[in-house]
Amino acid sequence: MATNNGLFISLEGIDGSGKSTQARQLAEWFRSLGRDPVLTREPGGAPGAEDIRRLLVEGDPNRWSPETEILLFTAARRDHLESTIRPALKAGRDVITDRFADSTRVYQGATRGDLRNIVDQIHATTIGVEPDLTLILDMDPAISLSRGLARGSGEDRFEEFGLPFQQALRRGFQDLAAAEPERCHLIDADADPDRVAARIRDVVQTRL
Ligand code: TYD
Repeated sequence: MATNNGLFISLEGIDGSGKSTQARQLAEWFRSLGRDPVLTREPGGAPGAEDIRRLLVEGDPNRWSPETEILLFTAARRDHLESTIRPALKAGRDVITDRFADSTRVYQGATRGDLRNIVDQIHATTIGVEPDLTLILDMDPAISLSRGLARGSGEDRFEEFGLPFQQALRRGFQDLAAAEPERCHLIDADADPDRVAARIRDVVQTRL
């Protein structure tokens, strides 16, 4: 979103890759620089979108068809964009979001049948914006999956699709990074959190 004052940054990656920790650390670093970031997440990030989140992350893994999921995630994203992201950017604040549209491109668009076209069409007509910078935390799904399920948060619907699904997700994110090298940066996330945070700061620094 080049026309705003604030910087719009998304963090992406497979389940348990440490995005939430890194999003928090990035926001803290911004604050230490005197910036005033909005730290947010998807699905969710606004009251209506958080209601939709519960429909998506809880319950039976096969509760929704991929097509229905695309619509629900996009509905949540539209609310997030209207209620949280746009107002913050307009006010000159940075937005750091834990997931955005790339999650739909990969989770719904590239893993269970080739629905990428539908994802792209719905995105173009109802969302139509991309982050200025996307940090993709890349790591071995065998490691991240054990972390994710160990949390036992009750929000494990996607983790429960298992290792081959997470491997397909990893490839999907790697392909996105290769296709959009200006916006998307792969970050090696198989290291202790402080090292990963330093890798992230190195990339973000170039955009400040
Ligand atoms: P998230 O809260 O980021 O979970 P985690 O911290 O485990 O990564 O996201 C919840 C789940 O929703 C996660 O498994 C990824 C999935 N998801 C999609 O399938 N499509 C989407 O568009 C988004 C935003 C998330």
